[in-house]
Amino acid sequence: MEPIALDITYAHADVIGEHGVSDSELDALAERGAQALEAVEGRRATDLRWMDLPYQEEVLRSVQAYAARVAGRFENVVVLGIGGSALGPRALHAALNGPYHDLAPPEGVPRLFVLDNVDPELIDAFLQTFDPATCLFNVISKSGSTAETMSQFLILRRRLIEALGREKHREHLVITTDARAGTLRPIVQEEGYDSFVVPDGVGGRFSVLSPVGLLSAALVGIDTPALCAGAARMDERCRTPKLRDNPALMYAALQWLMQSKGGKNIAVTFSYSQRLALLGDWYAQLLAESIGKKHARDGSIVHAGPTPVRAVGVTDQHSQVQLYTEGPFDKWFTFLSVATPAADVVIPSDFADRDALAYLGGHTLGELFAAERDGTRIALCDAGRPSVTIEFPRVEASSVGQYLYLMELSVALMGEFYGVDAFDQPGVEGGKVAAYALMGRKGYEERRAELEAGAPPRKPRIR
Ligand code: PA5
Repeated sequence: MEPIALDITYAHADVIGEHGVSDSELDALAERGAQALEAVEGRRATDLRWMDLPYQEEVLRSVQAYAARVAGRFENVVVLGIGGSALGPRALHAALNGPYHDLAPPEGVPRLFVLDNVDPELIDAFLQTFDPATCLFNVISKSGSTAETMSQFLILRRRLIEALGREKHREHLVITTDARAGTLRPIVQEEGYDSFVVPDGVGGRFSVLSPVGLLSAALVGIDTPALCAGAARMDERCRTPKLRDNPALMYAALQWLMQSKGGKNIAVTFSYSQRLALLGDWYAQLLAESIGKKHARDGSIVHAGPTPVRAVGVTDQHSQVQLYTEGPFDKWFTFLSVATPAADVVIPSDFADRDALAYLGGHTLGELFAAERDGTRIALCDAGRPSVTIEFPRVEASSVGQYLYLMELSVALMGEFYGVDAFDQPGVEGGKVAAYALMGRKGYEERRAELEAGAPPRKPRIR
């Protein structure tokens, strides 16, 4: 298996000047980095069980067995989930099945849709477009109580019962949830649905290598063993406490230095691969929910956290790069690049007498794409903007697995550098509780009364 590589050249002060990190800054973090790794590794066997997901062979086998059992039976696999229960499945499908799979799926392989919103227009359009009898619904909720996912479950289950009857509808639902806690597990038992487990110690945004990501991936033909093997390979690479040899530690240290010393509050994942673009969305949640915290672990108020942004090359060269090169010095960049694209297209040498076209003819789009990527990296460098590059040898399951684990471990290590709990999300609760109260959930009457009493006086609308 070829390793993915982290290239920090363009983040180095020797290359980009004052906005880069220096050897002495990295050296000064070496011991702290080793301690951070020790602290995270020390929790592997207790509460950070996501670290062992690459090695869950029995889970892999059961996921593959289920996929084999239902192979050829459904035209569409539909994930009902949100946040960590949606972004991984969607990113894996985009990366490993490509942009047109759902328009023309290979014979016998279903399409994959991830309905991670309750916008009624989205769900209504789905209901108008798809016959539920052609769909397998994978309801994913670790907590088994997320309002968005549960309401989708209620709607689609009712549709299935209406269309297929009480007995038959069961074949169209497979539930991924906690082994014991939450509302879904008892429903699974009462109704006899097929189900998979989100293990203890695996939070939503760290769950892509559990059945949360693996099941839909296996159903749409992704090589899940290779995905896990890639993650395991990265895990092995990242056991060393040496900062310069450990890509997760290096990336975490750079993120910390970029923000704490360099004032780079924005972390841009700039994917020079259309297939990898949605990994940027997956990472955005991982980073934002893990490091964006009001309190440090010692209780002090810190309001920590970088703001993740996702950009796509070359598209965003014509949208964002003006800001990136000339705007505030508040960003650093992670390029995702691919050493060997799976395909290339030759540009014809027509209109060779026109200078504006002649230089393109005979080259390939791969050459143009690489030139634009390298040109953008150099332009950012010339403007003093730091970047690193994560280079995938090819876009394939093993390299994507390496990337997923690299970023998960890196974010866990960032938690140590930033001094925050990377595994909770108290800031998400306020909105959830308010929504429960406004929707009339039992037990939230007091909050509803508070919300109604405390509603601010409305300002006149501007029409
Ligand atoms: O990362 C997280 O923990 C969250 O984004 C959750 O995945 C999200 O809120 C959905 O939660 P659940 O899977 O419990 O429905």
